[in-house]
Amino acid sequence: MAAIVIASRNEHKIEEIRRLLAGLDVDVLSLKDYPDAPEVDEDGAAFQDNALKKARVIARFTGLTALADDSGLEVDSLGGQPGVRSARFAGETASDAENNRKLLRCLAEVPSEERQAQFRCVIALVSRTGAESLVEGTCQGVIIEEERGSGGFGYDPLFLLPHLGKTFAELSMEEKNELSHRGKALQQVLPIVQEWLEQGLI
Ligand code: IMP
Repeated sequence: MAAIVIASRNEHKIEEIRRLLAGLDVDVLSLKDYPDAPEVDEDGAAFQDNALKKARVIARFTGLTALADDSGLEVDSLGGQPGVRSARFAGETASDAENNRKLLRCLAEVPSEERQAQFRCVIALVSRTGAESLVEGTCQGVIIEEERGSGGFGYDPLFLLPHLGKTFAELSMEEKNELSHRGKALQQVLPIVQEWLEQGLI
């Protein structure tokens, strides 16, 4: 059977992508099925670079079609930071709490009307035959002055969706998946996988 490997060990991401591809005649694997797969350094200057690099390495290693994502938060008044460094904003091994504290420190002098930000997610698909495709999803919001909500992860408690009056951390997982950068990017993956299956690329 045709197969896709998700270049991730993150249970939540794997499950979300499995659900999306559930109706298709394709076996969905992940790096949990390949414990010896190489670690890929996310050292690119843009989300696209990291996502493509991961998908290329894993497609080559497994001989199968690979899907990889890279995502992060871009804050307008910080010139798009933390961006590709979102996970490591407060240091190489920083926790979510440390990254959030640093973000609040950086924005301490920034008034509420200038605290716009967006999450961005890029997903790369590399087929076992070498075809490549990139899709992107974004979600606009503002960074509030103190954390709200207990759901999600990362910067979720500081990221407010003004039209809902709720942070990402105050949404259910289903609500977040509908609106989020990752959800929007994933919705574009389905037709590409369908097309590649029809063309025998997967
Ligand atoms: P990755 O693409 O999963 O490696 O995510 C990189 C980093 O971006 C995460 O460690 C978080 O700091 C941040 N990030 C990405 N997506 C989200 C999200 O949906 N909520 C909160 N933080 C996120």
